[in-house]
Amino acid sequence: MTILVTGATGKTGRHVVRELISAGAEVRILTRHPEEADVPSGVTVVRGDLTAPESLHAALDGVTSAFLFPVLDAIPAFAETAKRAGVRRVVLFTGAWAAGLTARDRGSWVYPRYRAAEAALAENGPEEWTVLRPAPFATNALWWAPGARADGVVRLPHPDAVCPVIHEADLAAAAVRALLTDGHHGRHYTVTGPALVSQAEQVAAIGQATGRPLRVARIEPATWRSEAERFLRPGIVGDLLGEWSETERDPATALPVTSAVPDLTGRPARTFTQWAADHARAFG
Ligand SMILES: NC(=O)c1ccc[n+]([C@@H]2O[C@H](COP(=O)([O-])OP(=O)(O)OC[C@H]3O[C@@H](n4cnc5c(N)ncnc54)[C@H](OP(=O)(O)O)[C@@H]3O)[C@@H](O)[C@H]2O)c1
Repeated sequence: MTILVTGATGKTGRHVVRELISAGAEVRILTRHPEEADVPSGVTVVRGDLTAPESLHAALDGVTSAFLFPVLDAIPAFAETAKRAGVRRVVLFTGAWAAGLTARDRGSWVYPRYRAAEAALAENGPEEWTVLRPAPFATNALWWAPGARADGVVRLPHPDAVCPVIHEADLAAAAVRALLTDGHHGRHYTVTGPALVSQAEQVAAIGQATGRPLRVARIEPATWRSEAERFLRPGIVGDLLGEWSETERDPATALPVTSAVPDLTGRPARTFTQWAADHARAFG
């Protein structure tokens, strides 16, 4: 029983690989850069690109289940190729905005894109599919690391915006349960951290974890937008700014905490304080 992990060299996927290995699974990873892949011993590395379906055949040969990283435009072809290759089960992650819980989410740039990817998997992929819709990642706080290291200041347009951010290890643990246990087929799970936490509170937790207090400076949304558009798609930048300004003004409009992580993994979801301790080194 071979499990293919895509996105395996990334922040979430590397936890998926580790958890699968500790559960005794046979793991193969797909990467565009096999020569750079740093994986646990016993893991097979296959070169491939999700946007190049012909490169997936070798990766999918003999695979029973797959963890699917959301290169959204590539999901339809992956779903069909995986089904033809005899893959039985796929676990995809998209994002909590796909749940469309608020008018803001349903009007977001990413909503129809997530929904189209999810539908392509459900309609054309292997029969046993599960979709995890994670809250915004705690790892987004890594965007603040350069400022924290340079002058101890984190510049934010909406420091009091709140969100139940999720630790990438919890997203991975939930995915592994959906890959290895039955009863999750045809299900969408919105997976969140254990509590709403503001960005200013996250900055304070990072300061505590590093032992070097950080200062928050409020900046204009337009300033953040012009910086963020260097590494994020403009649509995502707009979605983030919309969510932050609304949840800063009215925290009741934030994504609610769900019990999906404890329900799936049998453990409480990790707090942001835990995340900060796990990543303190990134902040110098
Ligand atoms: N940030 C958030 O708040 C949030 C919330 C919900 C969902 N998401 C989704 O989560 C993703 C980021 O997850 P992450 O932080 O775990 O990833 P990450 O650390 O950015 O790593 C990206 C991974 O994706 C793989 N990859 C990218 N393009 C690929 C392609 N064309 N073919 C094959 N592999 C490809 C990379 O593999 P190689 O380089 O080895 O090929 C790498 O393993 C975002 O792209 C977003 O869609 C993010």
